[in-house]
Amino acid sequence: FEVNWDAEAAEKGGYEHFMIKEIYEQPKAVRETMTSRVAKDDSGITFDELKWTKDDVAGIKKIAVVACGTAYHAGIVGKYLIENLARIPVEVDVASEFRYRSPLVDDQTLAIVISQSGETLDTLAALKEAKNLGARTLAITNVVGSSIAREADQVIYTWAGPEIAVASTKAYTTQLVVMAMLATYMGAIKGTLAQEKVSELCNALRELPNQVHELLEDVEPIKTFAQQYGFNEDVFFIGRSLDYAVALEGSLKLKEISYIHAEAYAAGELKHGTLALIIEGVPVIALATQHDVYEKTLSNIKEVKARDAVVIGIGLKGDKQIEKYVDHTIFIPATNKFLTPILSVIPLQLLAYYAAVTRGCDVDKPRNLAKSVTVE
Ligand code: AGP
Repeated sequence: FEVNWDAEAAEKGGYEHFMIKEIYEQPKAVRETMTSRVAKDDSGITFDELKWTKDDVAGIKKIAVVACGTAYHAGIVGKYLIENLARIPVEVDVASEFRYRSPLVDDQTLAIVISQSGETLDTLAALKEAKNLGARTLAITNVVGSSIAREADQVIYTWAGPEIAVASTKAYTTQLVVMAMLATYMGAIKGTLAQEKVSELCNALRELPNQVHELLEDVEPIKTFAQQYGFNEDVFFIGRSLDYAVALEGSLKLKEISYIHAEAYAAGELKHGTLALIIEGVPVIALATQHDVYEKTLSNIKEVKARDAVVIGIGLKGDKQIEKYVDHTIFIPATNKFLTPILSVIPLQLLAYYAAVTRGCDVDKPRNLAKSVTVE
């Protein structure tokens, strides 16, 4: 009698790769990140680790968000949310730029560093630089006791659980949840958000785990698109406002694991150069979930369709219009407009995953990349 014990297979819990396991862990990760922070009666957000007063928030004249890769993309979403909900100006930098650009940071600046691992060297160095310049520092990280967690004045943990796959998925969605909670928290303290809006956001946040789950139940169409378009060498992602931020993440996910050349563009920028690359058959993933810029995005979709691109639209459930202009549509459940990235990124993660599988790539360990970049 012989027992074949494959420890790695056991850790994957029946999934073929860590990445897909982690994609499916998102309902739980999102729920846990909100636990004890979003009030069950929707009255507001609590951060026991911050306990900021009105004076604390009033003292923040500027926020500098610093991170790398996917965490940087979470920072871009954070900028939209904080500026809209708390009306505080936010700059977002990749850490390797921030450190060397002599940033305008002082004791009225809050530096927020985002890092899944808490060990990324450039992010840690940027955090130290911000501290030296007198900024208050806040880390958003997934690893308790990591270098970044220890270095920052305050820490908010994402409760995503260990992330093994090089491609970040559940860490990103939980970073977005933290950003949404933080923006709401600051807006409520500062008074830029009425109680009614705070309650709406809390309610919408609490719906998210079920909505993520719902999205993960029907992956077949996404698998089919990935198989159909997985052998194209160029893919474009377009969107406006928060959809643009998600487009950046969708494009990074696709290139890092499937080695497909992918670019994300603010849809309104197409005419300023990129449209020249749109020719017959080029896949364009167009996100159109933002009501205030919806018509504008539709006209950009028409522009690429007129050049015979193949368009996959990402729209909100109930949107009857989008289907008329695109070749295929993936619908996400309707939510508060500030929370759409947490849902719209899921089909993009799945698209990248199934494209990589179709192309026979090493999904969990893509070439040339490491999970945690501890060198410059
Ligand atoms: C994400 O899919 C990437 N592998 C990478 O961009 C990553 O997000 C980046 O290296 C930052 O890592 P960190 O969050 O651990 O600091």
